[in-house]
Order: sequence, then C-alpha cells, then structure tokens
Amino acid sequence: MCGIIGFIGNDALAKILDGLELLEYRGYDSAGLAVRKEDETDTQIYKCQGRVSDLRKIIPNSDASFSCGIGHTRWATHGGVSDVNAHPHKSGKVTIVHNGIIENYALLKEEYELSDKLVSETDTEVVAALLNKFYDGNPKEAIKRTVKKLQGTFALVIMFDDIPNTIFAVRNVNPIVVAHGEGHAILASDPAAIYEYSKEYFVLDENVILTLEPSAYTVEDFDGNQVPVEFTKVDWDVTSTGKQGYPFYMAKEIDEQPSCIRRILSNYLINNDIDFGFNGELDKALKKYNRICIVACGTALHAGMVGAQLFKKWCGITAEVEMASEFIYSDTVLDENTLFIAVSQSGETIDTLEALNRAKEAGALCLAILNVRGSSMSRVADMSLYTDAGPEIAVASTKAYTTQLLMFYMIALKAGFLKGKISEDYLESAIKNLKQIPNAMAKVIEKKDDIHRLSKEVITCPDLFMVGRGLDYLVLMEGALKLKEISYIHSEAYAAGELKHGPIALISEGTPVIAAVTQTNLISKAISNVKEIKARGANVVLLAKNELKEDFSDEYHVIGLPDLEDVYMAFPEIVALQIYSYFVSADKGLDVDKPRNLAKVVTVE
Ligand code: F6R
Repeated sequence: MCGIIGFIGNDALAKILDGLELLEYRGYDSAGLAVRKEDETDTQIYKCQGRVSDLRKIIPNSDASFSCGIGHTRWATHGGVSDVNAHPHKSGKVTIVHNGIIENYALLKEEYELSDKLVSETDTEVVAALLNKFYDGNPKEAIKRTVKKLQGTFALVIMFDDIPNTIFAVRNVNPIVVAHGEGHAILASDPAAIYEYSKEYFVLDENVILTLEPSAYTVEDFDGNQVPVEFTKVDWDVTSTGKQGYPFYMAKEIDEQPSCIRRILSNYLINNDIDFGFNGELDKALKKYNRICIVACGTALHAGMVGAQLFKKWCGITAEVEMASEFIYSDTVLDENTLFIAVSQSGETIDTLEALNRAKEAGALCLAILNVRGSSMSRVADMSLYTDAGPEIAVASTKAYTTQLLMFYMIALKAGFLKGKISEDYLESAIKNLKQIPNAMAKVIEKKDDIHRLSKEVITCPDLFMVGRGLDYLVLMEGALKLKEISYIHSEAYAAGELKHGPIALISEGTPVIAAVTQTNLISKAISNVKEIKARGANVVLLAKNELKEDFSDEYHVIGLPDLEDVYMAFPEIVALQIYSYFVSADKGLDVDKPRNLAKVVTVE
C-alpha cells in the first residue's frame, strides 16, 4: 500500500510525477510530492486528495530546474482522505513520505509533546516531528534515534532542508528498491517506477540507512558499517510496460496470458521433463514431503486452492490451504516435515510474508511462488519459483493467477511423478496438455465480443452467483472475486451441490447465475443443480466445453470453451470470467484498473 518515490537528477518534478503514476496502483486516494533545486534550501510541497492527475493540476508549472524530490500515492490508514493528511509531511527542516503503519504514534506524540507541531491526523507526521526534534545537523544520527523509537512497519524517505540533492531512506518490512545511473538516482516502493531508468536494482535491507546522491549511494547499518548490496536484474522486456493502446491495463494483461504461459513452459519444460533447477533440491523435497501447507491471500489463495486439488489428484496427498491473515493467528502445526508454499504476485503482502516468516522459524522448507524478483518473500523463502509474468499493473490480478496456476500444475505433476504416483507416460501426455493451454486461452480471447454481449445483461444487477462443482467451483471463486472487485456487483461462488443447503434461497426471478460444467464426471450432477436454480427463475449463462455447446444452447446462453482435458479447463474458464468481469466494469464506466478502496500491494495487516 502507498507508493513512494525519491528521485535525484534533471527535471525531478516531471520524473516524480511520472513515477507516481506508475506506482498509483499501490494506493490512489491522495498524491503529493516535495521538490527542491540544487543548492537551494527551499522545499516546495504540493499535495492533494485524489489521483496523480489531480496533483498535476495543482502544480503551477512544469519547472524543469528541480533536481531532487520525493513523492507519495496514498492508501489511507491513519487519518481520513484529505489534502492535509496527504504526504509529504514537513516538520521544521524535515520532509518525509512513508509507507506502513507506526503503531505507537500516539504514545510518541505524548512522550515528546509533539501535538502542537502537528496539523494532520497521520502517524507519519509524528515521525517527521520526531525526526526534526532529534535533528541537530547529523541526519543519520537523527534517523537512527527516531527509528529506534518506532514500533510498526515503515519505509521512510526523507529530505533535510539544509542537505541539498540528498535523499535518505530507512525501512522495516515495507520495501524500498534503489537504482542508480548516469547522473541520476531513484528509489521507490516497487520496481515498477524504476524500469525506465535501469535494468537492475537492489532491495534496501531492513534497518540500514541509505544515503542517495546524484553520483553515489551509501548503505550503512546503525553502527556506521558499510553494508554490501545485491543487485537484481529485470529480466522481462521493459518495453512491454505501458497500456500499448488498450483502454485499461487489465485488458492488456488478460490478452498477455497466452504468451506468459508459453514463456513459463519454455523455461521449465526441458526434454519432456519439468525442470525447476535448484540443482535438484526442489525435486528432492517434492519426493520427500507428504505434508504441504499453502498460504496466500485473495487471488493467489485461489491459485493455491487449485494447487491443493492437484496434489490430491496427482500425488495422493492432502495439502492444506489457508488464508495468510487467518494462518498467522491459527494453531497450524508446522515443522521440518512440512513443505510450506507461499504464493504472491508482489512478494510483499504482509500477511503472507508474516506467515512465511513463521514457517521458516518453525523449520519448514519454504518455497515461494512469486512474480516480482527481489521481493521480500524471495529473501525469506528457501527457494523461489518465478512466474515472470511481467509487471501486473491492474489492481485485479489476471496473468499472475494463471501463471501461479501453471506453477502448481507443474509442481504437482513433478511431485506425483517423483513419488511414483504417476507414470512417465502420464507425465509425457500431461506435458503435451500443458502445451495446449496457451492456444486454448487465446481462442477464448478471440471470442471476447461474444462474452461481452452476454456481460451487458448484468451491468445493472445488484447480485450475481456462480455455481459449479470440483475444479469449476474453485475457478468460479476467482471469477466471483474478479467480478465483485472491479464491477461492485455482489458476486459469490457456490459449490453447486451445496445450493440446497441454504444459498438457493437467494435465487429468484431473473437472478443472474454463471454455471460452469467443464468437468465430465460431474456434468450430470452439475446440470441437475443448474436446472434446480433455473426452475426458480435464474437467468443462467453456462460455461461449457465447445463439444457440449450444442447440447445446451437450446436451454441456456452458453460460453463455449476450447476442449482441453478436464483438469486443464481452469485456464480457458478463468479467461472467460476475467473478460466477462472486465466488460461489466468498463461498461459501467468504472476505473477498471483502480477499483475503489483497493490497492495492488497490501502491506498492512
Ligand atoms: C485480486 C487481487 C488480490 C491479490 C492479493 C494478494 O484481484 O489481486 O486478491 O491476489 O492481495 O496479493 P499478492 O499476490 O501480491 O500477495
């Protein structure tokens, strides 16, 4: 949550504004920046409630002579959404932006009698005031003293009025990435803002102080020792960023999925085998472990649920799946016999990170399935598998989900083979099936206009239900999340067999329902359930394989899906649901990429 940026170099004002736009998916209720010119002590602050586009409007001119600045996009935690609560916050000579939560801010305010110095309701301004109180010309000393007093999570980016062209940063949990180039230096809360400047960056360690200058940087621990940094290379095509003619990032990211899946397959499928690298270490673990615990949030959790189903199917073992926010307060037993799998696009979600830390402490072997290299989770996990889907900018996850799914398919297949539960022939034919997935997804994308026609019918509906059995049910859970988060239509997925135990009471004349019937062994049961809801007036759209489309089209609106073997139908099915949700949101005139109240990276519990 919250995007933060610092930039030193030519035309800092424009660069910060552009960077804030790229970070806006982290929080978008307010935006602000502070800029200064070389050798001038005057710091100019602009901030307001609203988007970066609103911030641009209040900046009087595009003065290119600013050489240093910091910026922020906010997702409000302490203090409502208002101009005054927007960052940066200034106290005396200190200007800061902050991502995270300072839990003891009220105590600090009282202890150091800061109240009369504060104008906002934020925890951040308390930190600014404390820093200013401790500042006597030695910035690192003031930062050290302040940080020692703070409880909570933070990434703090700081400028001092009397230290020109220099930005300081320090963090605990919340990330900061740093890149340095010819005549410029940049830091940000995630790499999205720095791809344009550099193909490599480093992640700032926790509890060290970064001093960033135009032609140098230093990283020191609190005892003044230099700390080495490790650069991470960006290995996706940085030119693929930007909307590239699409009205929204989500539309672009949906369309990118076949090529993302192809890329992963070509990385991991080698000589008719699934090769994860790690010198065979992961293979050994997959063979050995019979207890698997998958932890994630939101869409990543839904990918994990499919993963658990696959471990049952191909390995004959029961994997536990838990939401990270519940897991960290539950009594789940973890030990050295557990393979713990954390799933996260960003690698920064605080609950998942916390769960991963717990698992590591308990001695479990920790595998992370991540998209962003160098993210916090990659630094904790014993092994990380990267989905390399490229930057996912739309808040609603699409390509991250399908690439996470694919990882689970490959892991479960390989584990099943290594455990002797599936044969070499089966693995070979499974690999052939995996290779058909990208084309199947592309075929759904080609049919997006047909899906759009059906989605138009629900744009004024308050509720929509999704029903299915087995794998369909799990995929519909993700479909329902997509629809609710970007269209604000209340949508829920139900296991079709459970309907009669309560949820069917919600069905009345005209209630829209999407029913998925892609699993051959469950079709007759699933169709009976669909008939039951149709008999109660539901307006049903059916997701079915193309080979069955004709059988159903007299009775239902049918979205035909390419005919893959049942277990692989999750891929075309979710693409259809993503497209459906996308069009509902776009047709309602909503900001598809930035749904209300949400943020892309959830770094508060
Ligand atoms: C929904 C969505 C969220 C994320 C969740 C976890 O479309 O994107 O539910 O999946 O916040 O985020 P990561 O995967 O970054 O841990």
